[in-house]
Amino acid sequence: MNRYQMDQVQPCIDVLVGAQWGDEGKGKWVDVLAEKADYVVRYQGGNNAGHTLWVDGKKTVLNLLPSGVLRGKIAVLTSGVAIDPLHLQNEMKPFELTPELFWISNRAHVITPWHKYYDGLIESKRSKPIGTTKRGIGPCYADRVARSGLTIANYICENSRNQWLEQRMSVDPEFSDHVNENQALWQKFFKAAESIQPFVCAAEKKIRSAARKSKKILIEGAQGTMLDVNHGTYPYVTSSCTLTGGVLSTIGLHRNYIRSHIGVAKAYLTRVGEGPMPTELNDEVGKNLAEKGHEFGATTGRARRCGWLDLIALKHAVEVNGLDELYINKVDILSGFKKVKMAIAYKDKLGKEIYEFPDHTKDVEQVDVVYKEFEGWNEDFSTIEKAEQLPQSLLKFVKFIEDFCKINVTGISTGPRREDLIFL
Ligand code: IMP
Repeated sequence: MNRYQMDQVQPCIDVLVGAQWGDEGKGKWVDVLAEKADYVVRYQGGNNAGHTLWVDGKKTVLNLLPSGVLRGKIAVLTSGVAIDPLHLQNEMKPFELTPELFWISNRAHVITPWHKYYDGLIESKRSKPIGTTKRGIGPCYADRVARSGLTIANYICENSRNQWLEQRMSVDPEFSDHVNENQALWQKFFKAAESIQPFVCAAEKKIRSAARKSKKILIEGAQGTMLDVNHGTYPYVTSSCTLTGGVLSTIGLHRNYIRSHIGVAKAYLTRVGEGPMPTELNDEVGKNLAEKGHEFGATTGRARRCGWLDLIALKHAVEVNGLDELYINKVDILSGFKKVKMAIAYKDKLGKEIYEFPDHTKDVEQVDVVYKEFEGWNEDFSTIEKAEQLPQSLLKFVKFIEDFCKINVTGISTGPRREDLIFL
């Protein structure tokens, strides 16, 4: 590091990511941590995400806006986010957002009507569907890396947008047909630029400037580690980097600004969409988890697949994110189970035990699971406020996770409300 940087760089950024297949309950922690933050930032994904927050008995689901909007903090969508303006303008309506409080990166990419159409089309043609949310996420990111995408900066400028459209139509007849056949939809899409425009700015520069002033910045991930395009169960993944590593590249930050990498995991496991999930329970226990845990997608309403906590996958998440600490959610949902289990090894197709998450998704599909059984707990968590009040069997369960994954569990969520959590 050079001398200038040595003087300037103070760790002031916390990054919080999902350590499973998404839907870990990150939104609630972000909402709580946001109280002490100056900025709350999304760095990847789009409105494929769904963060459910319960505040004063009222449920709010956010898809694209950072959870900090509920706290009146500066909310930022950075270059790594895929933005559907038609969705965003609706999601913004209930909040009193001003250009001082809400920033959209001029470098972010736009999900166009074509991307949404094409997502559905490709998914319907796949012999093995991925189970995408059909929100246009994959095609938008594909266009971005193919260098044919529409940036927010170009979208809000009519001339640049028209040039982009002309160019894109000239090289892709299918795209061109879509524009010609859906003119009203495209006009509505262009019109939405007016409501986005006031918030567009050099968001990354402004975040870097805030970091130089040691402002408290909270960065929230969407989806989860196992859906990461590099380290997840490819191709059954989303199209962005869901890991902590994506933060530095999409915002353009010095690594020393990061204070903590926090992972969030449920005390059990869920997955939406297709792809392997070794601990999936296709029985009464799985059904029970789904019902008690209200495991239905906040975005699509799809039923989530449920299973026992998988420590092989969780250890992978700790490693590839460089996690410093872990929060465990929904321990109340396991209350009432006489016994609870965790996966502590896989067996490959030759019966050999393996302790690392396989790189080849085909291998993940073929593993058997070795479980360890724990005493369950039966507790009314609504009366528990301190770590000392937590049941011994739960504390043993947590200690096992810590030792196995070599990570400190620093928070436990015991219910859906803001106040249902305990910092350890
Ligand atoms: P896409 O992100 O819509 O392309 O979907 C790719 C895969 O990621 C599918 O299996 C989706 O169900 C899954 N997925 C996308 N967003 C989320 C999320 O926020 N939570 C859980 N799964 C998600």
